[in-house]
Amino acid sequence: TGMFTYDPGFLSTASCQSAITYIDGDKGELLYRGYPIEQLATQADYLDTCFLLLNGELPNETERGDFHKLVTNHTMVNEQMQFFLRGFRRDAHPMAVLTGLVGALSAFYHDSTDINNPKHREIAAIRLIAKMPTLVAMAYKYGVGQPYMYPQNNLSYAGNFLRMMFGTPCEEYKVSPVLERALDRIFILHADHEQNASTSTVRLCGSSGTNPFAAIAAGVACLWGPAHGGANEACLNMLEDIQRQGGVAKVGEFMEKVKDKNSGVKLMGFGHRVYKNYDPRAKLMQETCNEVLAELGLENDPLFKLAKELEKIALEDDYFVQRKLYPNVDFYSGIVQRAIGIPVSLFTGIFALARTVGWIAQLNEMLADPEYKIGRPRQLFTGSARRDVPAGFKK
Ligand code: CMC
Repeated sequence: TGMFTYDPGFLSTASCQSAITYIDGDKGELLYRGYPIEQLATQADYLDTCFLLLNGELPNETERGDFHKLVTNHTMVNEQMQFFLRGFRRDAHPMAVLTGLVGALSAFYHDSTDINNPKHREIAAIRLIAKMPTLVAMAYKYGVGQPYMYPQNNLSYAGNFLRMMFGTPCEEYKVSPVLERALDRIFILHADHEQNASTSTVRLCGSSGTNPFAAIAAGVACLWGPAHGGANEACLNMLEDIQRQGGVAKVGEFMEKVKDKNSGVKLMGFGHRVYKNYDPRAKLMQETCNEVLAELGLENDPLFKLAKELEKIALEDDYFVQRKLYPNVDFYSGIVQRAIGIPVSLFTGIFALARTVGWIAQLNEMLADPEYKIGRPRQLFTGSARRDVPAGFKK
């Protein structure tokens, strides 16, 4: 069995070469194409970030305008998608709906399904970035039984999404600039994160030559899990649980459970495979949290207080210090999204929307790499040796 390196969870295996995102886990540094996340979050918007991830450089004025126009050209989805959506139960989890809808795009856009054709990939990329907000908002509207709102292309990417989510045909929707900026920042912070589980899934899936929509649907499916994109949902559920049981007064008791290995309880939104320091995205998210809660007059939000208390205790507690467990991006993003009015079950869908560009950039990078091969891990076989089916097993 000594033929292959055994590396469960790929803790020490680099699966590819990549020039997109750099993380220094010890320093707590995150760079997209060399630019620090803190600078992008304050000086660029999400579509600039998409352009950067896809093309390697920030856009100039003309490129910015052209890219915005290109994306907004594709924000509508085929009307037939509505009928597909209607097949779901109203109470379906939005991620169940989203995996279906994104996969179904392959059935609608036949001119962009050849993954080996760079032109096809280019259109598929724009379609996916443009249509994800529409699909997420449709999944939401379907669940609450409201009419779908068509995209409005004179709005920003985040503004359009807010309107499709919370607008109704009955009255004009006024986009709040603070919420728009907050959502845009959530999108930027989630846009890429090198070879995480869902991105590796997209690469592996795409390496078989499947179509780009199918590969991204695989990413959505992987992101759903609570150890990955589902952590923001799990984190908010955890905060609400503690709040129900007595709030800040119960934090000590809860922490004892977290530290007890037999309890099965984790501090959700804490810890990271790569960051062994404060996740820089968590810092930015905490700032945004302050801004949004102030805008909405929710400065005394009990969950925010609770989260800050948990963080304070954890950062001073030996259990967390020794294991280098710090807040990750999900620790505060749920509170921001909840304040904006996004239901908890949609959090991971927002993450998927934002990560789509990262998945595509990584997929493109893989397909352009002359050394790329179909991904095919090996195994260490631990099962039975060769044996015969008993004679007379089935008479
Ligand atoms: N609460 C309590 N203990 C923890 C936590 C936590 N959140 N995270 C890790 N630990 C402990 C873990 O039990 C282990 O202890 P020991 O060495 O005594 O066995 C030690 O810390 C190392 O953790 P690990 O599970 O070996 O680390 P990993 O790299 O396999 O897992 C993780 C990383 C993110 C899955 C894990 O930290 C976790 O489950 N965190 C909570 C879920 C979460 O917030 N996930 C979001 C990740 S960031 C966004 C994203 O990727 O989508």
